[in-house]
Amino acid sequence: MSRVFNFSAGPAVLPEEVLKEAAAEMLDYEGSGMSVMEMSHRSKPFQKILDEATQDLRDLMNIPDNYKVIFVQGGATQQFAAVPMNLQTKGGNAVYVDSGNFAHKAFEEAQIFYGENAIVGASSKEDNYTYIPDVDNLPINDKTDYVYICENNTIFGTTFHKLPNTQGKPLVSDQSSMFLSRPVDVTKYGVIYAGVQKNVGPAGLVILIIREDLVKSEFVNPTATMLKWKTQVSKDSLYNTPNCWSIYICGKVFKWLKKNGGLKAMEERNEAKAKVLYDYLDQSKLFKNTVRKDSRSIMNVCFRTGDEELDAEFIKGAQAHNIASIKGHRLVGGMRASIYNAMPIEGVKALVEYMKEFEKEHLK
Ligand SMILES: Cc1ncc(COP(=O)(O)O)c(C=O)c1O
Repeated sequence: MSRVFNFSAGPAVLPEEVLKEAAAEMLDYEGSGMSVMEMSHRSKPFQKILDEATQDLRDLMNIPDNYKVIFVQGGATQQFAAVPMNLQTKGGNAVYVDSGNFAHKAFEEAQIFYGENAIVGASSKEDNYTYIPDVDNLPINDKTDYVYICENNTIFGTTFHKLPNTQGKPLVSDQSSMFLSRPVDVTKYGVIYAGVQKNVGPAGLVILIIREDLVKSEFVNPTATMLKWKTQVSKDSLYNTPNCWSIYICGKVFKWLKKNGGLKAMEERNEAKAKVLYDYLDQSKLFKNTVRKDSRSIMNVCFRTGDEELDAEFIKGAQAHNIASIKGHRLVGGMRASIYNAMPIEGVKALVEYMKEFEKEHLK
């Protein structure tokens, strides 16, 4: 068996320890004689998995009691619609920070419901999202239902280093590609949500953390039962069959995070990893990071040579160095290294070694 250093933006690398444990339990989960994939979501063993996963997440993020945690399906993309559907009030508006492709998609979805009352409060679109726009003076008023951000822009490699001033209005954050990468103060948010397939677990699951007053019973628009947060909140994520497998693996990842020092330790590890790469990029004469320094993400690092053929050659040669999925998103080009929690620093060092070698060869 050989494992590569997997820099995929998602689905992405998971802790080897977790994968081994799951493999060992595949045929017989804790004496049940079946795998978690074969088990009723109403069974005792699965209820225990769900309860522990919820509690471990609460512990890790220090989630206050007045916030609900639910596990839902439909991808983060479905929440682009669910957010306005759940939070819109009559005559209200919603303010979006357009900091990347996924933020823009979320805004477009909000337009379906809010029309012109979906407002772009700040944007970096004109510069192909190479930075996080200034969010100090967003056009918030009495009628603002929420302020929306995509806190880490997976495709562009930028992240919010400071949260917007929402003037007391709920902040909704898509944390998909930074979830559990560092501590966050949950009380600063109205809603946090994340597709788990980047930093936490297998695809097909979204985790929502919702302040309880935002779990509403009345809706401005006709809203499908499954899109009402209240549906899953009132049934503790078991209104229908959840993604049992993904919840199970996420639960294991939460325990792995706890065992490895929690989110503060993760942040230190992630910063150390990102530093290795950014330090190299800052002095390289061949490779350049594609974003403004003050907006850099520690999860997704985008870089290129400025020459598409050279980029293609670098990507092609990566395999021989045990490096996988390093190609950048087509909206940015070049390369992207997603260095989520489970990527060991050895992987980042191997990447930098290859970059050095490549630079030496091509800068004669
Ligand atoms: C920040 C962010 N939001 C939303 C999405 C969309 O997620 P999904 O494919 O789970 O709908 C992604 C990734 O694809 C993402 O990186």
